[in-house]
Amino acid sequence: MASNKFDMSGKTALITGAAGLLGVEHAVALLECGAVVVLTDVSEAALSVAGEALSREYPAEMILTEVMDVSRFEAIKGVAQTFESAGRRIDILVNNAAIDPKVKGDQGVLETSRLENFPLEQWDLQLAVGLTGAFLCSQVFGAAMAKDGKGGVILNIASDLSVFSPDQRLYRKEGLADEMQPVKPVTYSVIKAGLVGLTRYLATYWADKNVRANALSPGGVFNGQGAEFVQRLSSLIPLGRMAQRDEYRAAVQFLCSEASAYMNGQNIVMDGGRSVW
Ligand SMILES: NC(=O)c1ccc[n+]([C@@H]2O[C@H](COP(=O)([O-])OP(=O)(O)OC[C@H]3O[C@@H](n4cnc5c(N)ncnc54)[C@H](O)[C@@H]3O)[C@@H](O)[C@H]2O)c1
Repeated sequence: MASNKFDMSGKTALITGAAGLLGVEHAVALLECGAVVVLTDVSEAALSVAGEALSREYPAEMILTEVMDVSRFEAIKGVAQTFESAGRRIDILVNNAAIDPKVKGDQGVLETSRLENFPLEQWDLQLAVGLTGAFLCSQVFGAAMAKDGKGGVILNIASDLSVFSPDQRLYRKEGLADEMQPVKPVTYSVIKAGLVGLTRYLATYWADKNVRANALSPGGVFNGQGAEFVQRLSSLIPLGRMAQRDEYRAAVQFLCSEASAYMNGQNIVMDGGRSVW
């Protein structure tokens, strides 16, 4: 039966940035299919909130948590060794962590987001998490998947902005001079396009070891942003609305399970049709 291909019983899936808005949704998606999830995040406090919330819905033994900063190789290696010593194989890696400059309420993204003023330390920090972090986790966990011959799955969470440029008109604030207007920062486009390149590289690199890699590129998730922003963004989307946070679960289930056994190196863009308009 086709539905059995979504069964992930006996598999362990490690999610980075798992305590955030979408990380928890990825965890639910994988738990629904029977996988044990390892929630990892740099924030210990957020991680314990996320772990406790999920434990109210799913058996506690299915939910493991580890503080892990994806920008630190030693931290990743340490987590990998912890599981290796405990005899637990990581079968699925979801590279989801990011420092995500978000539109919050009626505020836009910060003025320092503009290219002319964008601080080098922010560039370094955001790339270290969003792109280098995915490389390091793939290096450690992907290599382990390849090594023992059992294979595995890497899923990189990119963004619809991996395939088109941000429309900076979305972030405009009335009454501000052009040079003060907030924008989606350059790092976001670079990281997300980079993740697609990383996906293609990984997809061929360990293909003979049955390690598949794909990317999922979500469109904007509604999370209480101001009405004007929501209206502006929705008008760019053929379906006329932002995504609900749980609408990517099925794609995660597909891409992380045997249901997508013949899909490799692809970037699945789920954006309500925005990129085809
Ligand atoms: N929310 C959206 O609308 C949307 C749309 C498209 C793509 N995405 C992508 O989905 C992913 C998740 O987004 P989100 O909305 O849940 O973001 P979020 O900010 O809610 O969560 C990101 C998580 O990453 C963690 N993190 C930050 N630095 C880290 C580090 N050094 N090591 C480990 N973890 C770290 C944060 O603590 C946080 O829990 C991101 O890659 C984001 O770019 C989100």
